[in-house]
Amino acid sequence: MPAWLGLLALAAAAVAVAALLYWLIILTEGVYLGPRAVTALYNRCARRYDAIKQFDAADEAFFLGRPIARFLAGHPPAADGPPWLLDVASGTGRLPLAVQAAAPGACRTVALDRAEAMLAEAQCKLAAQADQADQVILLAHDAGRLPFADGQFAVTTCLEALEFMPAPDATLAEAVRVTQPGGLLVLTNRIGPDARLLPGRTWRREDLAARLRTLGVTGVEIMPWQMDYDLLFALKPGQPAARAAAEWIDLLRCPCCGGNPAPAAGEATVSCPDCAWQLRLRQGLWRATAGI
Ligand SMILES: C[S@@+](CC[C@H](N)C(=O)[O-])C[C@H]1O[C@@H](n2cnc3c(N)ncnc32)[C@H](O)[C@@H]1O
Ligand SMILES: [Zn+2]
Repeated sequence: MPAWLGLLALAAAAVAVAALLYWLIILTEGVYLGPRAVTALYNRCARRYDAIKQFDAADEAFFLGRPIARFLAGHPPAADGPPWLLDVASGTGRLPLAVQAAAPGACRTVALDRAEAMLAEAQCKLAAQADQADQVILLAHDAGRLPFADGQFAVTTCLEALEFMPAPDATLAEAVRVTQPGGLLVLTNRIGPDARLLPGRTWRREDLAARLRTLGVTGVEIMPWQMDYDLLFALKPGQPAARAAAEWIDLLRCPCCGGNPAPAAGEATVSCPDCAWQLRLRQGLWRATAGI
């Protein structure tokens, strides 16, 4: 083989490898490299995330905060406190902040995300709104198996994140499972040319609506969201519970064995009585120390 042909083959191979790396790391944000890669990327970009996204507070309040506030108005605080909202893959706290701006004190929130640096950003923003900080529990945890009992949350949300999960369908099913009968689900699904870069991680519009129906969800409303997402609102049929869990610990169920975790060694640790699963509070962030 002439030398120039060898060089050409080498250059083509280098371009192919560079294109593959660009797709794996930049375009798909590490999703095909596994959850650790996704988490590492988000931990790295946590400080820049809001600047990259450039959320508009008025739009956030109008399109996210307002409909959720309207729904929560039908679930007024009971004796045990306001209803609970779970924000799956909460990132830097965009959704809790939008809801609190639209309906201060209308719910208590668990903001769950794998990337601790993203949650730390959320923590800073929430701390700036001092009276709201204690309304949000920050939980560093994987969304694939949610550590909550069935039917605990009046509202469950997952924005711009399902496509980064190793098994989006499992997270979707988990989100439905932990939502109360009579509860609201707010989700996004990546659409358009970007979705074609993420095979197996997104749904065609009609497939997602059908999947939600098989999970027992009704009243699916789909609307365009940002440039490359659909925003979905859906209801889990049933009668809402008369009472909300008094404490966030009452929401928990061990994701390893199904046991009922209880506080241990003071306020800062919650342990499963039946296995090694444990959550510990450090610097305002709950994280699992053993098990998942
Ligand atoms: C594009 S951000 C969206 C954050 C927020 N929902 C928003 O709309 O701004 C995606 C988030 O999903 C989180 N994430 C990705 N995979 C996850 C997983 N398996 N479990 C929990 N969080 C995950 C990332 O850490 C990141 O914060
Ligand atoms: Zn357990």
